[in-house]
Amino acid sequence: MVELETWPHLFVPGDDDAPVALTLHGTGGNEEEVSALAGVLMPGSPILSPRGRVSEGGMNRWFRRMGEGVFDVDDVIQRAAELAQFITDAREHYGLTGRAMVALGFSNGANIATATALLHPEVLNRVVALSGMYPFGDRDPVVNTTGVSLFLANGTHDPMAPLPSVTHLENVATEHGAAITRVVRAGGHGITQEDVTGAMTWLASLST
Ligand code: MLT
Repeated sequence: MVELETWPHLFVPGDDDAPVALTLHGTGGNEEEVSALAGVLMPGSPILSPRGRVSEGGMNRWFRRMGEGVFDVDDVIQRAAELAQFITDAREHYGLTGRAMVALGFSNGANIATATALLHPEVLNRVVALSGMYPFGDRDPVVNTTGVSLFLANGTHDPMAPLPSVTHLENVATEHGAAITRVVRAGGHGITQEDVTGAMTWLASLST
């Protein structure tokens, strides 16, 4: 169990038959601002939006890093386990057990979402990862991810999420059984209309 009352998060109830949107902010973001993504991509869905519990110079993050794109992989693994436990406990607390769930993550939030799905697919198996990358450095701790679907949207010129790392993510996840859909568009780190359109098409194709 995690202490839900001491883990800052937002919960917004939604339609009974809609999948739950798990929104995960980027570095320096928070649970409030990122929850707007659910309104765009999954209108009507209940929203579960926790805050990353690592602080980097006062900025909220999901796991520690040594530098931009250089992650503390042990911390990634540990924090992904904590997020998986949060999801399990929040599902029970808010009456969402058994409901389909899709994570909508941006940047650092995309990276923790991907890490959680690749390590705990029984808890999270659908992820929209916007401007994310491979979260495990030079390691491969990924479990059997048959049944996991990831949507990855990235810019061609994104120094924070370089395309070779995204391709590595695609390759490793595929090797372990996950299904990957990618959008590669012009530009850098951020969320573009093309990302949103691609994500909506992918979400509509899911049999949640
Ligand atoms: C990360 O640290 O997860 C990525 O470099 C992106 C970010 O700065 O949040």
